Amino acid sequence: MNKIESEQYNKICEANLIFYKQTADQYESTETCLVDKKVQAGLQKDLENIVGFLRQNKTKDVYTVLDACGGSGNVATKLVRMKNLNVTLCDQSQELINIFLKKIAGQNVICQVVNTEISTHLSLAPQKYDLIVFSSALHHLENYEAVLKLAADCLADHGFIFTAFDPIQWKGPARLIMRLDYLTFKLLHHSKDVIPAVRRKIGQCLTKFSKRLPAKDQVNWGEIAEYHVDKGINDFELVRAMEQKLLTTVWHRRETKARYFIFELLLKCCGCKTNFTLLLQKKPC
Ligand SMILES: C[S@@+](CC[C@H](N)C(=O)[O-])C[C@H]1O[C@@H](n2cnc3c(N)ncnc32)[C@H](O)[C@@H]1O
Repeated sequence: MNKIESEQYNKICEANLIFYKQTADQYESTETCLVDKKVQAGLQKDLENIVGFLRQNKTKDVYTVLDACGGSGNVATKLVRMKNLNVTLCDQSQELINIFLKKIAGQNVICQVVNTEISTHLSLAPQKYDLIVFSSALHHLENYEAVLKLAADCLADHGFIFTAFDPIQWKGPARLIMRLDYLTFKLLHHSKDVIPAVRRKIGQCLTKFSKRLPAKDQVNWGEIAEYHVDKGINDFELVRAMEQKLLTTVWHRRETKARYFIFELLLKCCGCKTNFTLLLQKKPC
């Protein structure tokens, strides 16, 4: 049983489990936040800066770090190469964890791996963390605010929470441009799924109309798994809620990101922001 005991939260967890069981390899080989060199370099730089802050603020020999919903280790593979970090990756998908384990095999690095639902791990965590990272994760959690509050309770004094690659609430032309960007991605990388996706959409409309439950193969697990991708996250409200949990905002950046240069350019020309990244730090009690 997950720590957050709500039917909807559990339903989204289950959709994530099914979705990544079906698509783990595809995720690893096509997802922009994993394969785009510029995005990777930006993530590496952010992580190095944050680990630098950790080392400035504290006098410990080793800092404990959690890659929460770490998947195939986009973040953990970078952290395990940095000195004086004791890294844990937690994810509920065994398929993605297996990819991570293959990536670090034979590299002479150490990482604890926990195959568990994140709110459960945070509520049972045996230690306080100096840094907890959520990369492309919040929008997969129905109640991301409750999960971040659990994470805040697991932070050591002066510890950090870093979140990246989550959508804000898209305004004006951003929604249309992001849809076109996604459609292009689907056509180029998942072309075999285009006809099944259309079938699923028609099936969904028909079942909605007849008020029946959709058959399992008509469900779009990806759409359910990325629960907040369409409506986006209210990042300002989230920051306010976290500041009430004794966290200070070190940075809150809104960014313009698309999978393809042309759509990113269009977004920039229209002055649209699409994503946000947050760095929060725990004040000592
Ligand atoms: C878009 S992937 C991001 C993976 C990785 N952090 C990255 O940056 O590539 C979302 C991840 O969240 C995990 N996930 C979703 N809901 C979860 C939950 N409730 N508990 C643990 N992991 C979860 C999925 O299994 C998946 O690995």
